[in-house]
Amino acid sequence: MERIIEHALVPGTFDPITFGHIDVVRRAARMFPRVTVAVAASIGKNGVGTAFTLDERVELARAALAGIPGVEIAPFTGLLVDFAREVDAGAVVKGLRAMTDFEYELQQADLNYRLDSELESVFIMSAPQLGYLSSSVVRQIASLGGDVSAFVPPVVIEALRVRYAR
Ligand code: PNS
Repeated sequence: MERIIEHALVPGTFDPITFGHIDVVRRAARMFPRVTVAVAASIGKNGVGTAFTLDERVELARAALAGIPGVEIAPFTGLLVDFAREVDAGAVVKGLRAMTDFEYELQQADLNYRLDSELESVFIMSAPQLGYLSSSVVRQIASLGGDVSAFVPPVVIEALRVRYAR
């Protein structure tokens, strides 16, 4: 019989981590005994650099996710399928907010399948009240001096304040 998957990755850029990501990680942790939040070193999906360094993104994720049982945070470089193999993870969990996410995520899931057909892609529908939320809108609002307290935890608010201090 096939081995049941015990370790899943929740990968992303997390630039920075938001309540949307935290919701997906919490829910993934209810489905898999071990979850690694895999913070990608690589550039974001829009092909631009990140606002926070890899170390900063890892530290913010660590602080924001502290206390969720079974969840650890790790940076990775290179291909997700290689990192999954390295840490013996059998699934990748991602949140889906809208049809626009679906197109992008389907392409990534198909690519990952071509690279490693043993690695499962699992999708969690975002909580409806978080469907509008993304790291890029958080960065935009924070950089323009707006209040992001409904979108990110206090540790991230402080990091954004420092990052966008004028
Ligand atoms: O937060 P994002 O931008 O949705 O995360 C995208 C991420 C980091 C999961 C994706 O870009 C990724 O897996 N990058 C690692 C490189 C890789 O494996 N690319 C091939 C599959 S698309």
